[in-house]
Amino acid sequence: MTSLALYNLKGGVGKTAGAVNLAYLAAAEGWKTLLWDLDPQGSSSFYFDVESTHKNTSKKILTEELLLEDAAVGTSYNNLWVIPADLSARHADVVLDDMKQSKKKLKSLLATLKGYDIVLLDCPPGISLIHDNIFQATDVVLMPNIPTTLSMRSYDTVVAYFQEHGLEADKVKCFFSMVDHRKNLHHEIMQQFYRDKVFLKSYIPYLSDIEKMGVNHLPLFEFANSSYAAQCYRDLWHEIKKILP
Ligand SMILES: Nc1ncnc2c1ncn2[C@@H]1O[C@H](COP(=O)(O)OP(=O)(O)O)[C@@H](O)[C@H]1O
Ligand SMILES: [Mg+2]
Repeated sequence: MTSLALYNLKGGVGKTAGAVNLAYLAAAEGWKTLLWDLDPQGSSSFYFDVESTHKNTSKKILTEELLLEDAAVGTSYNNLWVIPADLSARHADVVLDDMKQSKKKLKSLLATLKGYDIVLLDCPPGISLIHDNIFQATDVVLMPNIPTTLSMRSYDTVVAYFQEHGLEADKVKCFFSMVDHRKNLHHEIMQQFYRDKVFLKSYIPYLSDIEKMGVNHLPLFEFANSSYAAQCYRDLWHEIKKILP
């Protein structure tokens, strides 16, 4: 089983859109796929229209009152399961802080899963104990980055954090997200980063079809399968498969 976290220190950069569409593509290709929604906002759960049948699922998983595999809910799509998030996910740091090996809890939970080919984590923004867990637990930490100055600073912050905390900085991979072709600044920052840093070649432009996922309450491919946006995510998935262990 390979694991991929959609992560950024910042919110609103395309983590959830990425997690949902990449999970959909993996499953459509026949990979047995689990998307674990770790964000109390529960946006991935919303797009896949799943709700937990348990109360306080997110907290109970961490305290082992609920087995991770039992928290997975089937979706309307073949090969695709989701662990929905609820508001109890906001207590994750407090719950973890009380534990021994508090930075390795997620890793040990993921090790209990059997039969999945890939697990994707839709992460909340921030950099705290839950994120330490995510960084330890996953093979690839995939960061969508909007090519703006502040967004790129957050990339530098994350890489420095990995280096300072003895984490494998090599597992951080980035792609540009919400790229606006009309903005010179976006072009300039992309040129600079492609020259100096490790960014995937595929990127996701700012496209209204992606925004419409919310209105349609669906993954992109269910209502715009032949769109440019869908092709961009397919290209991204194709490139990601090459870097997965
Ligand atoms: N490439 C894109 N083009 C246009 N809108 C996007 C794009 N990616 C995400 N969005 C929209 O921007 C908002 C934030 O995206 P989301 O994926 O939820 O970010 P995050 O999970 O990082 O907070 C959502 O309303 C989403 O539909
Ligand atoms: Mg999100």
